[in-house]
Amino acid sequence: MAHSRLTLALDSAAPVLPDGPVRVLRPPADYDLSALEPARVEIDHGFKPDHDAWAARGYATAGSGPVPTVLVVVPRSKALARRLVAHALHAATGLVIVDGARTDGVDSLYKACRGWAPVAGTLIKAHGRLFWFAPDGVPDWDTPDRWVDGFRTQPGVFSEGKVDPGSRLLAGALPPLSGRVADLGAGWGYLSAAVLAHPGVTHLDMIEAEALALDCLAENISDPRARALWADGTRFTTETRYDAVVTNPPFHSARKGLPELGQAFLATAARLLKPSGSLYLVANRHLPYETRLRELFAQVQEVGGDRAFKLIRAARPRR
Ligand SMILES: C[S@@+](CC[C@H](N)C(=O)[O-])C[C@H]1O[C@@H](n2cnc3c(N)ncnc32)[C@H](O)[C@@H]1O
Repeated sequence: MAHSRLTLALDSAAPVLPDGPVRVLRPPADYDLSALEPARVEIDHGFKPDHDAWAARGYATAGSGPVPTVLVVVPRSKALARRLVAHALHAATGLVIVDGARTDGVDSLYKACRGWAPVAGTLIKAHGRLFWFAPDGVPDWDTPDRWVDGFRTQPGVFSEGKVDPGSRLLAGALPPLSGRVADLGAGWGYLSAAVLAHPGVTHLDMIEAEALALDCLAENISDPRARALWADGTRFTTETRYDAVVTNPPFHSARKGLPELGQAFLATAARLLKPSGSLYLVANRHLPYETRLRELFAQVQEVGGDRAFKLIRAARPRR
């Protein structure tokens, strides 16, 4: 296996790691941490499937106090990457390391960091860059939260600073809803708010894997009928089933299209619904959901949409 940038850098003893724990911010589940003794590593990842993957391998979850070293694994969102570096500067007492792919903007982050920090070294390899510096100095970056229609969004959430057109379409087309409802992949709460506008709804579970989105939900949705759950929607189970599930399922992981992820959401919806319950789904037209829906539900009907999106109602989940 080719050595990762982290392994190469640590093998060459540049940077020299201070003794003690290394906190790693947002490492995807397939990030190579083999250069570090697992007992030294603390993982800080807000995306539940990645968090769970590291925990299942025995890695500790990060605390909030200071640590000698913080390693930032650069995420796709440029503003989130800057927030993570700023967070690392507050938490690290000895060393900050940043590692990322070119396609995720590591080079521009490197240039931005060199604007205010004496970057001690860098290693370029495998279409990416790793660099490191001592945690002094404060970046003058402005990465404000963005608001839309009175909702707070923040860097790193789906559809930051705008309403997703598919969700807008589904919100406007929902029939009167009642009873217990779930919003699977609730994001910062646009669809959830639309569900709660139905007076017949008695309870809403907002199921979402991204902790940054849950932060927004906490501010955006204060209705006592609603509760937010930090959970992996592909595995979520509940004792009490729902009368309706609404979803605009994810179909990407990082840069990869992953229709299987959306299909796994459909299977969860079928599992979570009462026999009399219905799924209301919006999806990009090109996504291959119909075959799977017919396996999971006895009734599947396209109920609207436009050139870009299809709206589907599925009922009578098969057990
Ligand atoms: C297409 S967005 C829809 C968001 C929101 N419902 C809206 O209308 O704006 C899909 C959401 O699913 C979340 N998500 C992705 N993978 C997930 C998983 N395995 N479990 C739960 N939520 C997930 C994403 O963070 C994102 O917020």
